[in-house]
Amino acid sequence: MRDHLVFYINGKEQRVSGSQAFMPLSSYLRYVKQATGTKVVCEEGDCGACTVLIGRLKGEEVSYKPLNSCIQFLYQLDCSHIVTVEGLKVDGQLNAIQESMVDCHGAQCGYCTPGFIVAMQSIYDKSCEGPKTCEGKVTEQCVKDALTGNLCRCTGYESIIKAGMEVAANEMVSLHKLYPSAHMVETFKRQSKTPIYIEAEGRKFCNPIDVASAVEFKSKNPGTVIVSGGTDVCVNCNKRAYAPQSIMSLSNVEKMQELKVVDGVLHVCGKVTLTQLEEYVKDLIPELHRMLWVFGSPQIKNAGTLAGNIANASPIADTPPCLFVTNAEIGLTGTKGTRFVNMNNLYKGYKQLDMTADELISEIRIPIPKQDEVLKLYKVSKRKNLDISTFTAAMLMRKSGNKIESIRIAYGGVAAVILRLPKTEAFLTGKEISEDTFRAAGEIARGEITPISDVRGSSDFRYQLAENILLKFFHDFVSEKELACR
Ligand SMILES: Cc1cc2nc3c(=O)[nH]c(=O)nc-3n(C[C@H](O)[C@H](O)[C@H](O)COP(=O)(O)OP(=O)(O)OC[C@H]3O[C@@H](n4cnc5c(N)ncnc54)[C@H](O)[C@@H]3O)c2cc1C
Ligand code: FES
Ligand code: FES
Repeated sequence: MRDHLVFYINGKEQRVSGSQAFMPLSSYLRYVKQATGTKVVCEEGDCGACTVLIGRLKGEEVSYKPLNSCIQFLYQLDCSHIVTVEGLKVDGQLNAIQESMVDCHGAQCGYCTPGFIVAMQSIYDKSCEGPKTCEGKVTEQCVKDALTGNLCRCTGYESIIKAGMEVAANEMVSLHKLYPSAHMVETFKRQSKTPIYIEAEGRKFCNPIDVASAVEFKSKNPGTVIVSGGTDVCVNCNKRAYAPQSIMSLSNVEKMQELKVVDGVLHVCGKVTLTQLEEYVKDLIPELHRMLWVFGSPQIKNAGTLAGNIANASPIADTPPCLFVTNAEIGLTGTKGTRFVNMNNLYKGYKQLDMTADELISEIRIPIPKQDEVLKLYKVSKRKNLDISTFTAAMLMRKSGNKIESIRIAYGGVAAVILRLPKTEAFLTGKEISEDTFRAAGEIARGEITPISDVRGSSDFRYQLAENILLKFFHDFVSEKELACR
């Protein structure tokens, strides 16, 4: 058993124990390591000023991703390599991205600049995961996609995007060259085999190495909070003074990493990140891929998990409606073994799950829509990217000729939990696929929801969306059918 975390910052090994283990990474960098290049603005994952690259073992190498250091706490970072903006310099000189930002006048006050530079590294560095180019070259869209999670409030984006496109790619030195992996790989392989337990100032942290020890710890320590990506939990810690007394990370539980297809069913283990899922379902479930593309930002998806999105139980979470209509099964592992709960039965009330104190989400099984099924997922938000949904919807229709053989509909943001619409589904079953049918269904859908008014939209707006989204589904279906016939 270890009583400390082991990780690296810009190539130097760090050992952290006691209360420091409960610090946000951004605070540790700035106040303990004096690495003040990493900036902090929002402390909730929205602005990207605190972006760092976090590398973890992947095969025989360390593979890097941009993440928000304000919502990564040290206890999440065992066996990782953190690279800050200071660590990108090559032989003490600015790297090609930093040079390009200077040349293109990409900074004014400069507060957001380190975050942008670190996020851009993922476009040009093969040591980093994530799409590098769009159709073989670094296009404007490609740079915009990589920078979705970075905000600038004074320069304006034109010069930043130009800087991103005009990097002298041939001069880039990869992180693998700057920080040869061999020693870190060996350390991570060795250290990740030892569980961690840290207790300080009345708080405890456990990092088990297998699922059995994880559920045992959870059962013996009621109220233990699992922190996976931390993109919900750590925001609460920063913004609502939430300080769970007992915390568990599953970062060294190897079994929770799997992502595979078995007999037409996608198996997503508890630790799989949203980025991994987005890439994996690109051709398998394109509609889910499209939805994940507008989910948060790269930094959020690189940390956040599907399990966390489900367990957080927000009625406006983006992935659950898809899981409702595909009849996904949620694998809950506890001291008595694993049981599977249909997604439609998981939520018992606002933020209440059919999950016992010792259980954790070990796996999510999603039946892949078949050839004769049409899946559509909708997210309505004020901004397209990096915004919380006002309303979400998922429809899975099986058709036979021009008839609806069956349809499942789920709406989010219209009640305390995500809802299926049984009356609307019953009305549509067996009907002809026509605009009139879906218009009439919209009126029934109105009667099945009880939306509230909040900062994101009025209840009237949501009632109208509940109607209109069914018409949109019909028109999307028709236009895709026409396209397929051409
Ligand atoms: C800037 C920003 C943008 C965001 N954008 C979106 C968005 O577009 N759409 C959206 O739906 N959400 C969004 N979110 C919310 C969040 O990113 C997602 O809910 C994410 O999926 C949470 O996953 P996580 O691994 O980070 O969860 P964590 O924060 O680690 O955990 C969330 C909850 O799940 C529990 N939990 C985690 N893993 C397990 C497990 N294996 N078993 C049991 N319980 C578990 C935790 O104990 C906690 O209660 C955003 C958040 C931020 C900060
Ligand atoms: S400070 Fe804004 S995302 Fe971290
Ligand atoms: S340069 Fe000032 S916020 Fe971006």
